Amino acid sequence: MSINAIKGFNDLLPSDSARWQFIEATARTVFTAFGFEEIRVPIVEKTELFSRSIGDTTDIVEKEMYSFSDKGGNALTLRPEGTAGVMRAFIEHKLHVQDAVTKLYYMGPMFRHERPQKGRYRQFHQIGAEVVGVHGPLVDAHVLVMIAQLFTALGLDEPTLQINSLGCPDCRPRYREQLIAHLSDRRSELCEDCNRRIDTNPLRALDCKVPGCQEATSHAPAMIDHLCATCSDHFTTVRSYLDATATPYQINPRMVRGLDYYTRTTFEVVTGLLGAQSAVAAGGRYDGLVRQLGGPDAPGIGFAMGVERVALLLEQRQFQSVPALFIAVMGDAARIAAFQMMTQLQKQGIRVELDYEGKSLKSQMRRADKLAARYSLVLGDDELVSNTIQLKRMDDGSQQSLRFDATTIADALTGGAGL
Ligand code: HAM
Repeated sequence: MSINAIKGFNDLLPSDSARWQFIEATARTVFTAFGFEEIRVPIVEKTELFSRSIGDTTDIVEKEMYSFSDKGGNALTLRPEGTAGVMRAFIEHKLHVQDAVTKLYYMGPMFRHERPQKGRYRQFHQIGAEVVGVHGPLVDAHVLVMIAQLFTALGLDEPTLQINSLGCPDCRPRYREQLIAHLSDRRSELCEDCNRRIDTNPLRALDCKVPGCQEATSHAPAMIDHLCATCSDHFTTVRSYLDATATPYQINPRMVRGLDYYTRTTFEVVTGLLGAQSAVAAGGRYDGLVRQLGGPDAPGIGFAMGVERVALLLEQRQFQSVPALFIAVMGDAARIAAFQMMTQLQKQGIRVELDYEGKSLKSQMRRADKLAARYSLVLGDDELVSNTIQLKRMDDGSQQSLRFDATTIADALTGGAGL
């Protein structure tokens, strides 16, 4: 019996990989323009890193981590997100000593044991970026403008940027008490999970998808109305910078995030096109995280984008490369000459395909069509003797007579087809 992949773990097939390469290349270009450099951190870290940063009472840590002990008895976890590992590396390698402001980006697989559905997988991929070392609101706007630019560069204008503020250790506890009072009065209307959350993580009740809970919290107090003066100023200034750069956004006072490290500005890029999985990117400020992990008192802000979700949004667009030329051959002598020609053109970066093993001319031309080659030529004994071929444009069938010479053919292919 053959062995299949595990549920929620997907193969990326050649038919999709060009789209992923486009997403990754676009992100690299945008990040580089905004001054970010790449960091690569391990996929496996100590479990404690994630429980301490993401929070013991979050869904991720409570239910979704792929944790195991290795042969040495160490408690390890496949990373469920990127920020914790990047901050661990930031602290371990004292990156703040080199520069007071550190701007990093990363891409790679993450693992969460969630119920798989369209846009939600157990192994999924994030492209993320983090800035460490800046307290002021300009950097919040810098990250948000970069996210907006990233989606523009991807050619996606439908997702909307939503922002909120989750306050700080000064104002959030006071707000939390008010929210707990509101939820406690409505215990009977709330689901079992939310009843438990009242004591552990009451803000998560605002995010519950159960209709009864949504109804019961529809008039719950919002953090944004209970910010301290400093957090309120910070949020207002972030907004003014977004306005100054004409960056569109909406305020979503009910937005809470599934990770506990956030303070102040949080945000999501949401789409209406992926059903329940509406967030294509998300992030926020985490001013206490680095210190909490044993590092310097360095504030941070960042985001991560879900590559599978962006790829779904780009599904209609064609990214696969097509051959510039298909060489159909008749006879062994022609095959050698075609192989030499193909090699010379490929050295110039031109994609060429040919028949590998003596199929009929008809079947070779069918393959040229299937590969959507832009041009084709047929090479047989006559063409070898005359050293002349007919270069055929596949879309309109027009032909030109050319010398069978790499420079001549390369000129015709690049000049005419715009590779
Ligand atoms: P997150 O909201 O948990 O944040 O994930 C960010 C993005 O990853 C989501 O908006 C979504 O697009 C994608 N994503 C999450 N879970 C799945 C899944 N099971 N399947 C497919 N895609 C998924 C974080 O992970 C934070 N580390 C972001 C951050 C960076 N905050 C500050 N810096």
